[in-house]
Amino acid sequence: MRYAVISDVHANLEALEAVLKKVESLGVDKIVCLGDTVGYGANPNECAGLVREKAHVVLCGNHDHAAVGDTSIEYFNSYARAAILWTMGVLKPDCREYLKGLPLTGSVDGAFLVHSTPSEPARWNYVFEPHEAMGEFNAFQERVCFIGHSHFALFFVKEGASCKVALPRPFTLENDTRYLVNVGSVGQPRDGLPTACFVTYDVPDGNVQFHRVEYDLSLTYQKIVKARLPRFLAERLLIGE
Ligand SMILES: [Fe+2]
Repeated sequence: MRYAVISDVHANLEALEAVLKKVESLGVDKIVCLGDTVGYGANPNECAGLVREKAHVVLCGNHDHAAVGDTSIEYFNSYARAAILWTMGVLKPDCREYLKGLPLTGSVDGAFLVHSTPSEPARWNYVFEPHEAMGEFNAFQERVCFIGHSHFALFFVKEGASCKVALPRPFTLENDTRYLVNVGSVGQPRDGLPTACFVTYDVPDGNVQFHRVEYDLSLTYQKIVKARLPRFLAERLLIGE
């Protein structure tokens, strides 16, 4: 069984379509989406519709939560807040209902799934450092947990009392070792690469691999500008930050 784990599509239809095409070419059996399907980009309804149709499990992210009024936008920066207000204005009723019903956590085949952190899924905390990751391993039973939220692809490896961070490379789940894997972002990467990011997870082999996919960034850029979303949200896509 091969899973594709995607996250943080952020209403970027071109990136999502390019990833789905790549996913098909990789012989993926099931797609898992870790949330933030909407917010920032110009195609929230289309992206939510595609994710709903294609993914086996879909979780709720903070932008999905905010776009349906379940999370305050007070702590969002001005760009994110503007995008959420814009998204609220264009979301179709069935899409809104769909997003409202999404769970915060899930699991598939030995993997725990959450948008932000296993310990406090609704607090929307970030995990960047090994000491932050360390405490999270107590909050799930599975050998591996896939997360999103930071838009920065990396993974943490815990052996005994030590926890190390690693940059994306293919790896295989080892016995007596546990993993927290940030799958990066499809629609708004912030790890210095503008290409869409996702992960494949093979069961029972335990192979995990990061993938980067080019997409029609200029079209996404134009759509954001045309929708009168903050231009910064288009600019940042060009540099992946
Ligand atoms: Fe996000």
